Amino acid sequence: MGNRTLAIIKPDAVGKGHTGKIMDRIISDGFTILGARLVYLTREKAEGFYAVHKERPFFNDLVDFMTSGPCMPMALEHEGAVNAFRTLIGATNPAEADEGTIRKDFAESVQNNAVHGSDSDENAEKEIAFFFTPDEIHQS
Ligand code: CMP
Repeated sequence: MGNRTLAIIKPDAVGKGHTGKIMDRIISDGFTILGARLVYLTREKAEGFYAVHKERPFFNDLVDFMTSGPCMPMALEHEGAVNAFRTLIGATNPAEADEGTIRKDFAESVQNNAVHGSDSDENAEKEIAFFFTPDEIHQS
């Protein structure tokens, strides 16, 4: 079980001024922020990050959304980080997200769902490396 995950505060949440509130939830839940940066994703970068979804009907809309404004990728540390973060953010579709989760409180729709969290330890390491070089990550 790994202790790191990659989170992204997505353009909908950044645009509505929710970045600080979401970061506060993450810190209050015991995560350590190892790295964070405001990023304007190019189409190429967004397509690369979500390449696994490129055959899905929502892919182009997802890339439009992720390039519609700045987002904030963060490398996070927590015991069992991937599952701990997925519990904190709730279901992909906010209509199905539990009370008290970040998506329940901040997401608009299944696409504009406020935050991303890695779905496995293997993807967490790949996704952290997608946004951060090793020397940009705080070593706790
Ligand atoms: P995320 O956890 O970042 O992983 C893939 C993203 O695709 C997901 O959050 C949503 O933003 C988006 N997504 C997943 N399923 C759908 C869907 N059915 N329709 C539109 N967007 C989706």
